[in-house]
Amino acid sequence: MQIIQLTGLSGCGKTTISNAVKLLFAAKGIHIEILDGDRYRQTLCKDLGFSKADRLENIRRLGNLAHSLAKQYPVVIIAAINPYEEARSGLKLKYDAKTVWINCELDSLILRDTKGLYKRALLPDTDPDKIFNLTGVNDSFETPLNFDLKLNTHLESIDESVTKFYNFITELI
Ligand code: ADX
Repeated sequence: MQIIQLTGLSGCGKTTISNAVKLLFAAKGIHIEILDGDRYRQTLCKDLGFSKADRLENIRRLGNLAHSLAKQYPVVIIAAINPYEEARSGLKLKYDAKTVWINCELDSLILRDTKGLYKRALLPDTDPDKIFNLTGVNDSFETPLNFDLKLNTHLESIDESVTKFYNFITELI
């Protein structure tokens, strides 16, 4: 079983690309599991916020869950922002997880802003709707030092990114 940890800002394409790859493998009878940060923040990680300690704990729990699914799936993808090198290197050390950096320029994310989070993070400090800890705007995203694949979703089409990720997984399994 292979754990693949994604890393990238909110809206960069983690969920879209993972879901598309999952469908392609399903069509070949290979079942991939995706642990989506947004989803697990409603359940397993409901008690966690967005401080550094909580984000580290979030990834630790998702890693643990991914590992526990080892017998059921050939590949488990952890699709969370995963902004800290400490968490990423932790999963690599513990589970030999591969790291896929889904890179996207902030300007493109601000234009897309599917969840409206960037708009809120860019509000004046006095605005009651302002978010003060959005990764990439006013909270840190540590540039990945060790990664096995990097996708640039501001430059590539979704299809191109999906194909690259699909080929990457094919070589792993
Ligand atoms: S992580 O940093 O701990 O890996 P995770 O991927 O689980 O984050 O959750 C990120 C999701 O939470 C985002 O896609 C977004 O929908 C939501 N979110 C809400 N507030 C924040 C914030 N301050 N920073 C990042 N994401 C946030």
